[in-house]
Amino acid sequence: MIEAGKYTSTQVRTVYSRRSRVYSKTVAPLEFPNHVRAIEKAAIRPDDKVLEVAVGPGLALAEIARRVDRSNTVQGVDISPGMLKIARQTLQAAGITNVVLSEGSAADLRFPDETFDLLYNGYMLDLVSLAEMTTILAEFKRVLKPGGRLVLLNMSKPDEHTRTLRERLYPLLPPKLALYIIGGCRPVLMERPVEQAGFKHITREFVPGRFPSEIISAAK
Ligand SMILES: C[S@@+](CC[C@H](N)C(=O)[O-])C[C@H]1O[C@@H](n2cnc3c(N)ncnc32)[C@H](O)[C@@H]1O
Repeated sequence: MIEAGKYTSTQVRTVYSRRSRVYSKTVAPLEFPNHVRAIEKAAIRPDDKVLEVAVGPGLALAEIARRVDRSNTVQGVDISPGMLKIARQTLQAAGITNVVLSEGSAADLRFPDETFDLLYNGYMLDLVSLAEMTTILAEFKRVLKPGGRLVLLNMSKPDEHTRTLRERLYPLLPPKLALYIIGGCRPVLMERPVEQAGFKHITREFVPGRFPSEIISAAK
């Protein structure tokens, strides 16, 4: 894995808010089939307490909300107000009312310890630094109940020996430009960091295609 650009929360929030409308009409629908596959792997039960971190325009969140009881509230967090605005519109258009959205950072989740049965996170760890990954995975673990499931969907590559075009280009771009042009994202391999964070029963599925991705599932 290569290192990500050193972006501040403010930079990420600003850029993803500005890109939110375009992102919701371009990249998000193309990546959506990968979310559906990851959500299927999450095997959501109607009474599961679910948190999605980095909801973006809310396409995956709507799928998650459809899989739980209407009386069961799903929590969704994102750092970018612009993305949250689009997510609200997505949910409203789909007639989904059992979701609470809040602005916040994956590194500092405003939920008590052991709150959730499932934490779902898609296409976010591929833009955070290696050090921040450690903090975020510890935070994910904190809010999961014992035995709770973690499902991650990330931009990825087949294995660590593969060096992708994006990995070659990424370090050549000035960090701010990388954030604007390619969302600051590079392929990641999260199996080992998830193991180092103390999760168990870790599986990885590589999903090839236009947006090569990995689905990691694990349990606390
Ligand atoms: C590439 S988009 C993916 C959005 C959505 N999960 C999807 O797949 O369509 C990355 C998202 O992560 C959010 N994000 C980035 N860093 C974050 C952080 N530290 N905490 C919460 N959200 C974050 C951004 O605001 C943006 O919505």
